[in-house]
Amino acid sequence: MDVLGSIDRSKLPAHVAIIMDGNGRWAKERGQDRVYGHHEGVISVREIVNASAEVGIKYLTLYAFSAENWNRPKAEVDALMELLVNTIRKEIEELDKNNVRLHIIGDFASLPLVCQKELNEAKEMTADNTGLNLVLALSYSSRQEIVEAAKKIAVKVASGELKAEEVDSKIFEAHLYTADFPDPELMIRTSGEYRISNYLLYQLAYAELYFTNVHWPDFRKDNLYEALLNYQQRERRFGKTSEQIQTTNQ
Ligand code: IPE
Ligand code: IPE
Ligand code: MG
Repeated sequence: MDVLGSIDRSKLPAHVAIIMDGNGRWAKERGQDRVYGHHEGVISVREIVNASAEVGIKYLTLYAFSAENWNRPKAEVDALMELLVNTIRKEIEELDKNNVRLHIIGDFASLPLVCQKELNEAKEMTADNTGLNLVLALSYSSRQEIVEAAKKIAVKVASGELKAEEVDSKIFEAHLYTADFPDPELMIRTSGEYRISNYLLYQLAYAELYFTNVHWPDFRKDNLYEALLNYQQRERRFGKTSEQIQTTNQ
């Protein structure tokens, strides 16, 4: 079946968020070191970024490193940070050429300085691009993001810049890392785990969730198209009844 041809371009999710999981297991199945899996995972990243841009997705958020991932063995963390710098260096010109704009969410200051520098340059270089918005979640913790938003608002209320009764969801969302992005409509997690792992807890409130057993290094264009097709076959009800949704769709 031509999966790509079956996708309705007028009903694409504007924002797709992915938990790229299973690099370690993929490598282990091949008798290799976990880091080998991370390297192979970069090939999937490249392919999924290109496929997303081609199909017409406006925002793609990739969970690349969680705040909890700092607790992994030092050698793995170091390898991941090195891979991050090298990948940005290698790919940024191609991304720029493809009109991709890079954004970062997470605890940026906790990243090694060399990563910060490379990422800042890449962000600046692509700042005027108008195609796909590629959002990398790095040293990201959704709980930390929410607590920080609450803290920033509290400071504004204490200083009189904001009144407590003015705080609503719109103001709250403006203080999250994702202030400039729409909420993800589709969340994909690879490698067969059925959990959110501290990812976009607030923003995923009404996202459609898609889980696949495929490990991230094996997740390629066709797997993304499958997920998009699956998304398009769902009825998003937002608390209403099916009948109400069908009437508004007519
Ligand atoms: C995802 O793959 C990549 C990162 C978390 C950085 P894992 O490294 O979590 O792979 P598994 O889940 O151990 O197989
Ligand atoms: C989530 O994967 C984080 C990333 C994909 C970067 P993990 O592999 O760290 O999640 P858990 O530990 O299985 O929940
Ligand atoms: Mg994992």
